Amino acid sequence: MRNYPFPNPETKICLTIGHPVDKQKSLYMHNAGYEALGLNYLYLVRDIPPQQLAQGVNAMIQFGVSGMSVTMPHKVNIIATLDEMTPAVEKIGACNTVHVQEGKTIGYNSDVIGALTCLKKKTELKARRAVVLGAGGAARSVVYGLLEEGCEVVVLNRTQKKAQLLGNDFGIRAYGFEAWNDYRQYDIVVNATSVGSRREEDCTCRLCKLLYRGEEANILFDENKVALDVVFQRNQTEFTKLLQGKGYNIVYGHEMLVAQGAFQFELFTGHQAPVEVMYTELKKNLESW
Ligand SMILES: NC(=O)c1ccc[n+]([C@@H]2O[C@H](COP(=O)([O-])OP(=O)(O)OC[C@H]3O[C@@H](n4cnc5c(N)ncnc54)[C@H](OP(=O)(O)O)[C@@H]3O)[C@@H](O)[C@H]2O)c1
Repeated sequence: MRNYPFPNPETKICLTIGHPVDKQKSLYMHNAGYEALGLNYLYLVRDIPPQQLAQGVNAMIQFGVSGMSVTMPHKVNIIATLDEMTPAVEKIGACNTVHVQEGKTIGYNSDVIGALTCLKKKTELKARRAVVLGAGGAARSVVYGLLEEGCEVVVLNRTQKKAQLLGNDFGIRAYGFEAWNDYRQYDIVVNATSVGSRREEDCTCRLCKLLYRGEEANILFDENKVALDVVFQRNQTEFTKLLQGKGYNIVYGHEMLVAQGAFQFELFTGHQAPVEVMYTELKKNLESW
């Protein structure tokens, strides 16, 4: 709790930038954390259209913001505006966290940290075998993190071409869903697609057939493995529901979101994040359909 007038002229600002920026769950999570620790920080959300990104980022720096979460569609194009970046940002080609220090911008990828923090609570990663579904930004972050930890990773994606691009970039095996047969020997399965984040999935790919129509259940290996679903909008998704029934040890997308948010919180404020407070606040804003 704060025992001083708030906000005030010294209040530090952090924010999410994106386009559009509706349903920004980070807003509540960060502000609840600041309030719990009595920090003189305020978290905001700002819509910056793609054509105004460089100008918008510059304005934020002039305005004196301490840190920015970067969401769609800016995660790639923000890189060109950075003064410095971590090797993860360089390799993944996406940045979702910008720390502003003395007017200099340093880019991070907190999705890598969020995924690894959660997975490491469930299993050793070194020399484990993982299959990652998806080849977009989230998949690239998860693949990067797993490889850094010494995992063997194979990628499967609906669009084969995109899988191959990822495979080439990271030097790993990557295929279209048609190659998806038996991954029984794998220890970890990650849903890094956006399947589960929308109410309707008008799609006939093998993942949607499995999750929405119960077809080809044999393509998922059974029981007692570890799974991560990156989709964070809901308490449970079709993916987590299916795997829960098979005894999987599951990392939910909202847990990953809080873990990456905690990293940002600590980077921007220098204080240890009150993870439980942030998690409770986020859970209030989750959907369940
Ligand atoms: N929990 C967290 O902290 C966290 C962090 C980052 C992102 N996310 C979530 O991760 C998800 C993916 O984000 P992203 O940035 O990677 O998006 P993206 O770059 O647009 O990639 C989307 C991925 O999902 C696949 N996909 C979409 N619809 C599909 C369908 N109907 N069937 C099969 N595959 C489908 C795409 O396959 P194609 O290549 O075939 O189109 C692609 O691989 C989003 O829901 C996002 O909110 C969560």
